[in-house]
Amino acid sequence: MKKLVCIRHGESEWNKENRFTGWSDVDLSEKGHKEAKQAGKILKDKGYDFDIAYTSYLKRAIHTLNHVLDGLDLDYIPVEKSWKLNERHYGALQGLNKADTAKKYGDEQVLIWRRSFDVLPPLLKETDERAPRNEKPYRNVPKDELPLGESLKTTIERVIPYYEETIKPHIEGGENVLIVAHGNSLRALLKYLENLSDEEIMKVNIPTGIPLVFEFDDDMKLKDHYYLADEKELQAKMDAVANQGKAKQ
Ligand code: 3PG
Repeated sequence: MKKLVCIRHGESEWNKENRFTGWSDVDLSEKGHKEAKQAGKILKDKGYDFDIAYTSYLKRAIHTLNHVLDGLDLDYIPVEKSWKLNERHYGALQGLNKADTAKKYGDEQVLIWRRSFDVLPPLLKETDERAPRNEKPYRNVPKDELPLGESLKTTIERVIPYYEETIKPHIEGGENVLIVAHGNSLRALLKYLENLSDEEIMKVNIPTGIPLVFEFDDDMKLKDHYYLADEKELQAKMDAVANQGKAKQ
């Protein structure tokens, strides 16, 4: 049995303030640090072990991974960071409050921006200082590969080749792999692994800080997937994510 464990980072400062975040590099909130430590404890209590870990260039994911590895006493394992695992880039929506945006443009429009498969958010201008091509962490990436805003579809186009070429060979080779990433980069992976339709993925919301386990057979066929949390806690956290884009909460 081959296994992959994925975790969305703990609550960030901007999750707490209910702002579109995307590639904005905000840190974990106090609750987020606790959630990340708790994820490490859950994995330790259940006897999980890892050989290698992957994360994004964004500190809310990196700090979550550090807490998890610390909890497992696995600080020494190799960690590969890639911008390909970054959150979906939310374009010119980044920084805006989700509920205020829903008040201004309507719940329906915000749902389209957040969960439609191939609708892009309003794009950043190339000269915008928030455009990744103008930011130091991305200075070595060819400019034409870097987004000004992404849909789930275009997020999939960078997450899945990275998974296939870089991560999957390690799982196939029998290593225990951990990925700490983001709501939408993980939705991209989950859509691919579970073979969900463009409609089915719209209803999927990934909770912060809860380990999600994928089990594969020897041919890398997905056998099972489940969160390490009780049903009630899980549903409440998923509903909270879904409700972030509503004007009235
Ligand atoms: C963000 O980037 O704002 C969130 O982390 C994910 O946002 P979403 O659930 O609104 O897509």
